[in-house]
Amino acid sequence: MAVTAVVNQKGGVGKTTVVLGLAAAAAARGRRVLVVDLDPQANATTGLGVWNPAATIDSALDTDRAGSIRSIIEPAGWPEGEGPIPDVAPSSPRLAQSEHQMATDLIGAQDRLATALDGVSSDYDDVLVDCPPSLGLLTVNALFAADRVVIVAEPAAWSLDGVEQILRNVSRIAERRGGRPGVAGIIVSRLARTRDASYWYGQLSETHADLVLEPAVRLRAAVTEAAAQSVPVGSLSRDGAAAAAAEFDALSRALDPDDAERDDAGSVDAGPVAGAAAALSTTGDR
Ligand SMILES: Nc1ncnc2c1ncn2[C@@H]1O[C@H](COP(=O)(O)OP(=O)(O)OP(=O)(O)O)[C@@H](O)[C@H]1O
Ligand SMILES: [Mg+2]
Repeated sequence: MAVTAVVNQKGGVGKTTVVLGLAAAAAARGRRVLVVDLDPQANATTGLGVWNPAATIDSALDTDRAGSIRSIIEPAGWPEGEGPIPDVAPSSPRLAQSEHQMATDLIGAQDRLATALDGVSSDYDDVLVDCPPSLGLLTVNALFAADRVVIVAEPAAWSLDGVEQILRNVSRIAERRGGRPGVAGIIVSRLARTRDASYWYGQLSETHADLVLEPAVRLRAAVTEAAAQSVPVGSLSRDGAAAAAAEFDALSRALDPDDAERDDAGSVDAGPVAGAAAALSTTGDR
């Protein structure tokens, strides 16, 4: 079991799309997946086909009772496919108020998600936390709950600066948490077939050769359409859908600590400690 926080403080880079793609790929291999939607925009919740959740994550984070997330989890509304349907801890705009409320807790503000997941995450093979586009208290909660971090980056100007900032934050938290979370890797997303996109993809790959995961997720109309229909991209029959699902499958396998076929054992298997060390050495933080 691994809790993976999917982060970038920049909006619209593809975090939620990556969470949904990885969730679908892992479930198709028979893995039990929980998606925790930690963004008040609730895009992962609706992307998973959950429109009127009975309860939402703000109520689980409002208490500091261990395992409080269990009572709000429900199955995704995705159509039956290969493997089990992922579960979701749904979000709602009320989470924005909870974040302000949590900030007034001088003792437990950073640990609310870790506490909420206590005793629950072990029921799953993969827990994927979709973070909001900020490095605020919600993302900090995700980093305190996570074993590892996946950074989603667009191949565009300034994306390297954003990655450096996340790596610094992750290493600061890892220093306080005995090496956790580690950095499992950087997923390059929304890769267009333009010279500019190839240039920035090259820059990211060169600067973070040890962290950039293959393949990149290409920009495809099928991905947008799957999001609009609240279904996994692999369930569509249109052009590009199978290719997009194959990219997520390859990334999911690269990140799967139980997958014997992975070729990049180092960063994943040695996990948090190796990852944190990589983050520290990459940022030159100390
Ligand atoms: N590979 C892709 N191909 C085509 N469209 C994509 C792809 N990845 C993401 N998108 C689209 O780009 C937009 C932003 O993606 P997404 O919502 O996943 O980003 P995000 O980082 O989660 O955004 P936010 O920071 O607002 O939460 C969405 O409309 C999504 O459908
Ligand atoms: Mg999102």
